Amino acid sequence: MLKNFWYAIEFSHAVERRPRKVTCLGQDFVVWRRRGGQVSVLSDLCVHRGGALSMGTLAGDDRIACPYHGWEYEPDGTCVKIPANPPGRGIPKKARVDAYPAVERYGLVWAYLGDLPEERRPPMPHFPEHDDPAFRAVYWETTIEANYERTMENVVDAAHTPFVHGTSFGNPDKPEIPDFEVTQGEWQAEADILLSPPPPKGLWSLLRSGPRPEHVVVTNGWYLPNIVKLHVRLPFGDLILYDHNIPLSQGRTQVKIVGYRNFFTGKWADGNAIKRIAKIFEQDRPVVESQRPELLPFDLSAELHLRSDALQVAYRRRRQQLIDQGWWVGGDDLVMGDVPRRQATVIAS
Ligand code: FES
Ligand code: CO
Repeated sequence: MLKNFWYAIEFSHAVERRPRKVTCLGQDFVVWRRRGGQVSVLSDLCVHRGGALSMGTLAGDDRIACPYHGWEYEPDGTCVKIPANPPGRGIPKKARVDAYPAVERYGLVWAYLGDLPEERRPPMPHFPEHDDPAFRAVYWETTIEANYERTMENVVDAAHTPFVHGTSFGNPDKPEIPDFEVTQGEWQAEADILLSPPPPKGLWSLLRSGPRPEHVVVTNGWYLPNIVKLHVRLPFGDLILYDHNIPLSQGRTQVKIVGYRNFFTGKWADGNAIKRIAKIFEQDRPVVESQRPELLPFDLSAELHLRSDALQVAYRRRRQQLIDQGWWVGGDDLVMGDVPRRQATVIAS
């Protein structure tokens, strides 16, 4: 798992005043909304006896009180009250928990999980649809018993579409993937891929006029560390999914999807849009959960690659560079199967 990035850790709508536990990179965090509306993220581990702050309560204006012995922490992680201490006794300097920079963007709460100073942090991706009034968003999440990199690569893998999604948007009669070019930057890569659409049915067929197009252009890509984009250019509009693959542990991933569309933009169509996302994901789930080895190999030659796997190959190469720079985290408890051990570190010290 890659540290030093901004990670979307929760939907904004799920974060209220009440402390909430979220997990990312195998670590637990407590997140809550402060009186002024701003969101704070702390390590969920009280330094006293390891109580879970997410089970605690809010105290004073913006403090969080541990449920075990009531130590109170400020949003910057400093402990300011130890109820068991008689009056006048000081608070140890070490009584603090890690605090993480947090911002809200695109309907999500993002936390910076790393130890780089602000000016050296990789940028957050830009989702232009979010502020475009022509688009409407839906939010959907699930947990999958698979490693986040397997889950992530699956979304940029166009060649599985006719097989895994043959009954939804893939066309089993046209499995060829024409060669495509990958445009790559430091933190992202994308490609326009031509897919052959199946005959339209249901609601979607109502939108079609004229002959069925031979190809649909799908702009597919990844943004480090864990986001994949799927932009389907349908004849009647655009469907853009940003898919966040949050590593809960090495073998479990929370998938949070934000789906934008500029057709059927009424609220009434949200249910249908969510159902489609869920249906397609459920077609992927059994395949991705059964991939072996569970973790993405570190050795590029451990699996075979075709031209149509170019986006995944680009990802694996870039990931290797970051691993070489020490950006990889994963401890003993996180290791699964007989995968080469990488350095074990905590995200922030
Ligand atoms: Fe948190 Fe004791 S464990 S106050
Ligand atoms: Co799929």
